[in-house]
Formats: sequence, C-alpha cells, structure tokens
Amino acid sequence: MSQRLTYMDNGATAKVSKEILEAMQPYYRELYGNASSTHKLGRDAKQALEDSRKIIADSINASPREIVFTSGGTESNNFAIKSIAFTNRAKGNHIITTKVEHKCVLRSCKWLESQGFKVTYLDVDSKGFISPEVLEAAITKDTILVSILHGNNEVGTINDLEALGKICKKHNVYFHTDACQSYTKTDINVKKQNIDLITLNSHKIHGPKGVGALYIRSGVKIEPWQHGGDHEFGMRAGTENIHGVVGFAKAVQLASNKQHIETMTLLRDKLISGVLKTIPDAKLNGPTGNKRLCNNINFSFKAVEGEAIGGYLDQKGICSSTGSACSEKTLEPSYVLTALGLSNEEANGSLRLTLSRFTTEAEVDYVLTELPKIITKLRRMSPLTKAIDYVLTKSN
Ligand SMILES: Cc1ncc(COP(=O)(O)O)c(C=O)c1O
Repeated sequence: MSQRLTYMDNGATAKVSKEILEAMQPYYRELYGNASSTHKLGRDAKQALEDSRKIIADSINASPREIVFTSGGTESNNFAIKSIAFTNRAKGNHIITTKVEHKCVLRSCKWLESQGFKVTYLDVDSKGFISPEVLEAAITKDTILVSILHGNNEVGTINDLEALGKICKKHNVYFHTDACQSYTKTDINVKKQNIDLITLNSHKIHGPKGVGALYIRSGVKIEPWQHGGDHEFGMRAGTENIHGVVGFAKAVQLASNKQHIETMTLLRDKLISGVLKTIPDAKLNGPTGNKRLCNNINFSFKAVEGEAIGGYLDQKGICSSTGSACSEKTLEPSYVLTALGLSNEEANGSLRLTLSRFTTEAEVDYVLTELPKIITKLRRMSPLTKAIDYVLTKSN
C-alpha cells in the first residue's frame, strides 16, 4: 500500500479544490475568448472577469474599479511598492517597511535604495508584531509609503491593520499591506482599516497559481508599472487570465465560510499543545490565540536541525517546511526568526506546519505520533545533544 500523504505546507501553496477546478474548466475549453474582443466569446470572458472582480472587491469592502488583477503576490507587491515610490518621488523619497516581510517586498525595497530612495526596516517584538508607536516614530516629512505585512508567512503573526492604518492616515502617508497569507483567514475591510493598497493572491486559498490582485484605493496617485494595452483600467497591461481569475474568485467564495477558520484553529491548537506536551525543549514561535493565523504553526526544537526534521517527516509522507518555502534552499537561518530574537541555533531548529480547511484530525494525530519519534531519534544522533550532555556532566 502506498504511504498516505499528509500535506502540512499550505502556507507555501494549497491544492486546487474540485469545485474551483470545475469553475475554471469551461474557460479553457469553451469560453476561451479574449476579454478585449467584441464578439460573443469575448463578451462572455469580459463578463466572467467583471463578475470575479466584484467578488474580490466585495470580500474586502472595496469597489470593483479598485481591483487590478495581476499574476500573484510577488507582482502585486512589486507593483505597489515600486510604482508608488516613483509616482510620488516629488513628495518624498522615504519608505518604511519591516524586517519580517516576504522577500518580494524586501528585495523591491533594496532595489529602490539603489535608485536613491531611503528605506527604514522596522524591528518587530518577540512575537513578530509591529508596534504602532514604533511606526509613528519612524515617519518623517519625506515618508511616502508604509508597507507592512498583514499575516506573517513564517510565524503567523497578524498585525493590527486598523491601528497601523490610522497612523498612516494621520501623517498622510500611503499604507500598503501584503495580505497573501491572511486573506479570507481574518477580516479585511479596506475602509475600516484605512488601507490604500493591498496585495492578495489566489494559490494560498486553494485557487490556481499565477493569479492575484492589487487593491488600489480610488484617489491613490500611482502610475502603471507594466505597459502595453489598456487592460485593467490601463493599470496593468496584458491579456487577462480569465480561467485564473474565475478560479481565484471561486476560491474566495468558498473560503468565506467561517466554519473553516474555526476548524483550522481547533486543529492548530491541538497540534501545538500536543507537541509542547510530548516533546521536551520544544518552543512555539510567534503568538498564540486569535492574533495568530488559524493555519500556522512554527516550532523550534533544541539540538536538532529543521532540515533534518523535514527530511524524516517527508519519509513518513508528511510535507512541512523550515522557514518559508522561498528561502528554504539557502542554509542561512531564517531572517524572520532572527528578527524575533531567536538564536541561530533556535532558528535552524525550526519547523513550520501549515494547515488548510482540508486538514483532518486524523492527520494531526498522525503528526503527533510521528514527530516525537523523529525528534528523539535526531537528538540521539545530534552532535549538539552530545555537546550539551558533555557540558552538563562536566559542570555537575
Ligand atoms: C506573505 C507573502 N507575500 C507574497 C508571496 C508571494 O506570492 P506569489 O507566490 O503569489 O507570488 C507569498 C508566497 O509565498 C507570501 O507568503
């Protein structure tokens, strides 16, 4: 019998659900028109595009005219940050972000520094939160943009957008947030939270890869970044990915069921308390309770390497990650975990498990059975354990 697969890497990407695939299929085979064409197939594509836009807009209390479809979170973040910077350069050249953003935000900011912009990278507290006071203190007369992650992809911290947005509004500075991990998992209301731009994507919520959106509040001064045809209100050129946006919108509709959040929260907390109870020297990274993404778990285990845990879990059919999928190929400790104050050893001993609404209790129980055995085995083999034992016996 082939080994069952237990997928706990939904923070990297999530499977496309059956209903979403079925919603998309007609747009590959029958309704394949170009939304710019004036014939029937073109008009049908345009209708699907606008229906999808309305679903995304309603989900964050925006108007459809404020939603620009993109190829995903990376493009939306690049577009928002670089384009706001260049469009508003006459007003100032200072941008504020944080040390724990996704790489596509950090590298966009680094590149802007090479173009003459000044960037402040804010510190976070030990749970990964950005303090509104720290943000306010960093704003200068030259600040044009603040870009702060909503839900942290590694440790699940949910920042208080309303408090941060209020400060940006008070100082007349644009506020952008990357909500790729939090979208549909916690409330987003662009008006209540004073958000000017928000990055959304589809593949973390069971929609297809390669599609996302940027909300741009009406009145925000921003030039297009990608030039070509007049697509997306002239804000993002390129033939629209109709099957993609249809799948994205269907994913948003299906994710609006709050029961999913409750179920993921229960399973998350069962897994967290089970691990902390059964594995000595295990530490949860990030916050607890409703300020943590309902599907995110991140531990550090003393005297073991996260990479090794991931490898052994993989042999048991359990998909996990150490740090974020994008940085896993480097051997550097995660910059997010070190920003939270973890030592290199703690950061290297980290493991991220991310659930989805398809995660079952049986899968959680399976991880709770296998993970303690793996940690025990690795600790027996670990030179770090031997070093710690040696120090302990020497000092006794
Ligand atoms: C917080 C965050 N922002 C941005 C991205 C990039 O999104 P995409 O994969 O759609 O380009 C990711 C995905 O890993 C993410 O977790």
